Amino acid sequence: MLFANPHARHEPYPDALRELLDLERARECRRWLAHWDQIASPTPLRPLPGLARRLGVGAIDLKDESLRSPLGSFKALGAPVALLRWVRRQYPGRDLDPAALLAGRHAAELAELVVISATDGNHGRALAAAARSLGCRCVIVLHAHVSKEREAAIAALGARIVRVAGDYDESVREAARLAREHGWQVVSDTSYEGYEAIPRDVMQGYAVIVDELLDAAPADGPCPWTHVFVQAGVGGLPAAIVSAFWERYGVARPLFVVVEPEQADCLLQSARLGRPTRASGPVDSVMAGLACGEASPLAWRVLQPAVDFFLGVADAAAVQALRTLAAGEAGDVPVLAGESGAAGLAGLTVLAADADGARRCGLDARSRVLLLNTEGATAPALYASLSGRSAEAVRKAQARWTSAAAAPRHDGEDRTTARAGPPMTAERHEQDYRSEAVARLRADLAIALRAAAHHGLAEGVCNHFSVELPDRTGRFLLNPRGLLWSEVRADDVVLVDAAGNRLAGRHEVEPTAMFIHAAIHRLCGQACVLHTHMPYASALTLIAERALDTTLSQNAMRFHGRVAVDAHYHGLALDASEGERIARAMQGADVGFLGNHGVVVCGARIDHAYDDLYYLERACAAEVLARSTGWPLVPVNAALAAQVGRQMQGERLQSELFFEALRRTL
Ligand SMILES: Cc1ncc(COP(=O)(O)O)c(C=O)c1O
Repeated sequence: MLFANPHARHEPYPDALRELLDLERARECRRWLAHWDQIASPTPLRPLPGLARRLGVGAIDLKDESLRSPLGSFKALGAPVALLRWVRRQYPGRDLDPAALLAGRHAAELAELVVISATDGNHGRALAAAARSLGCRCVIVLHAHVSKEREAAIAALGARIVRVAGDYDESVREAARLAREHGWQVVSDTSYEGYEAIPRDVMQGYAVIVDELLDAAPADGPCPWTHVFVQAGVGGLPAAIVSAFWERYGVARPLFVVVEPEQADCLLQSARLGRPTRASGPVDSVMAGLACGEASPLAWRVLQPAVDFFLGVADAAAVQALRTLAAGEAGDVPVLAGESGAAGLAGLTVLAADADGARRCGLDARSRVLLLNTEGATAPALYASLSGRSAEAVRKAQARWTSAAAAPRHDGEDRTTARAGPPMTAERHEQDYRSEAVARLRADLAIALRAAAHHGLAEGVCNHFSVELPDRTGRFLLNPRGLLWSEVRADDVVLVDAAGNRLAGRHEVEPTAMFIHAAIHRLCGQACVLHTHMPYASALTLIAERALDTTLSQNAMRFHGRVAVDAHYHGLALDASEGERIARAMQGADVGFLGNHGVVVCGARIDHAYDDLYYLERACAAEVLARSTGWPLVPVNAALAAQVGRQMQGERLQSELFFEALRRTL
């Protein structure tokens, strides 16, 4: 959902906002934080030219806040500033030195002070670390959906943890209540009536990000970026970012797009209503840092006149963006971006795939886009399950990429477009086809096809499974023309390019086979694409809802938030444009229901994608059976379905064991 903010203004930065946020204070925060051992400054700005080409924009630069701090996120800029300012206000006339405070030189005096805050992870961790450095005590209130590993990271910094049963907003209320009861000080990143000074100081800390970016921008030149995408929870981060750009560039400021989870869209809804309000959905999201139900009124004062567009994205799009960055797709540097960190890229990807949305935002081949990766793997186990690789593996891949990029090249070839290995000759295709890694992949693709036949998911000799070669050279493995899926063996699988030209293998391929597959690989960044006309899922593409209801059976809930619908059947996909239209309709989701046609299931790995395909058909079968009774259906609420979906996404061992069993038996 894209919403154009009717209140956005392109005029000089208003004086009324200068009181709240200005670059002078951002610079002061930067000077103070230079004395804190938990901060690295500046963080890198990473060009992503491969991704820019893929998404059809001129340039993408990613400010990488995953390296801001051992605390894992940009939030390390806000809490310490607010805490320093508050402590200094407690001792008027003493002008306590921020460097001395951060070094713990006043710890003895501060030992009885208690600060408290609610958090969905990152702010609380930053506050706990800052309190420990200064020497005061800290209580952190967590809501029901904050993971155990996030809790452990905060507790390890010496904070006392309080759990509440509700969501983020409930934890904010509980923190305020405890503070009143015990005389503690709330140091929150969100504002509410009568509580503004501290969240303002938090936001001023975040503006350090832009201050660093502007260091490298030409003094009198135009803004280096035409579009800035910023993800939001309560709005403090985007308020800090957009105000700093607005102040510096005035009427020539870039266009601002704020990205939120679609079920935690409190800012989009505030824009609609014209005042801060609640989200329209159940709030809970895989993007834990953005799962906020109420806008910060203080942040809203800045956002309402500044933000051009608000965009809601599905959890599936964020997970896909996280994987894209981890894999260093399209030849770009691999980046460690957590679920909330990747949300800006998710927004850009969704918009780039939506011709009308892109046009409305003026996003085209001339656009230079700035994204922020606001966190690293702040919940490492969840990160590994979502991305399919550990944080450590991504760090190592990044280090390898960086040292390869730094090595002198003598062939004049651009590092970001360079293809791995020797030139693309027939010999190379043949060699790669026979290599051990590709032979394993061929064997797995053949297993998936035979399993699909065994499970009743095949139709004649039609439809295809494809998987991209791991070297990301735009080559794919595909099933051959004219063979039943039940008879396909590893040696029957064919190596093709994106146009469906056979590069290696003994069989022909269906000329149109790659139209849907190539577009989904390219536009959605998916490694494995399975397209079937499997009966029960296809049956649900024929009914008014066009897809399965992910709040009915437990099997269906694993797909909650991961399904896109293409309701516009246009006949057979006989050319690339129809494939691209379908890929765009996928909106970054793993599962696409193609109206009057069939389904597409995608994934980063064959075993995970096949497991999804199989359970999708099982879930659709259950729904068709239940509907066929004519008796009333009993769905669960969306929040529960989302929770089950996350539980299943976070536990992929079953998928791997299932595929292992298929390898043994088929
Ligand atoms: C990683 C990450 N990114 C973005 C945000 C959004 O910040 P805000 O709530 O200030 O809008 C958060 C908030 O916790 C976060 O943790």
